[in-house]
Amino acid sequence: KLQAPVDGVLAGLRLVITAGPTREPIDPVRYISNHSSGKMGYALAAAARAAGAEVTLVSGPVALVAPDGVAVVPVVTAADMLAGASEAVDAGCDIFIATAAVADYRPDQCADQKIKKSESAMSLALVRNPDTLATIARRENAPFTVGFAAETTDVARYARDKMQRKNLNMIVANDVSRPGLGFNSDDNAVTVFWAGGEQPFEAQGKAELAAKLVALIADRYCDRAS
Ligand code: CTP
Ligand code: CA
Repeated sequence: KLQAPVDGVLAGLRLVITAGPTREPIDPVRYISNHSSGKMGYALAAAARAAGAEVTLVSGPVALVAPDGVAVVPVVTAADMLAGASEAVDAGCDIFIATAAVADYRPDQCADQKIKKSESAMSLALVRNPDTLATIARRENAPFTVGFAAETTDVARYARDKMQRKNLNMIVANDVSRPGLGFNSDDNAVTVFWAGGEQPFEAQGKAELAAKLVALIADRYCDRAS
């Protein structure tokens, strides 16, 4: 489907976008992960490229083809995602957008061999993963940062709280409790929050929404100093 082009609003700007899930290995054949198709991140990458940006997509495992003209850095774990994103930002980044569904925890160790079932129950010890977005946003000379927040309740409150806690310029919140929207779906409905305002976007295709989000992000980015 053709989108109204957002001609050149991001010309000359370098964007780094995280997308997809991460996978945290339990043993050679198993992992912990999140629901995430990567569609929103890939759609944003395509829209940003169409708007003239130089785009690097740091992507967890997804079944999507990279948009034309977009560089992809493939990653698997949350630790890989932080390393890949940090390297991409080091190479030059004006705007950082985190759409990835990063696993918050990983098994404290990955078994060398496949774990055989034995007892009627088993437990896994988990440890916290690093937060890519918060780490990038707290850097000296941090890029303009945009986070995503998938919430099932109190969407506005949790999203604004995350924006403040992680020191973000903007946050895009979606209510994943709405049936047929959000992760794995082709459509999404979101509300974008920033320090001085908010804007809702009704349910629509992710490509269409991505073009509008890129326009809004470009607008806020240009306004950032004022
Ligand atoms: N994020 C990240 N690295 C993590 C966790 C989250 O970069 N380890 C980013 C996501 O890509 C998203 C934003 O942070 O842009 C918010 O993610 P979310 O899971 O909603 O927030 P958390 O801080 O992990 O809080 P919680 O899952 O407890 O709601
Ligand atoms: Ca999380």
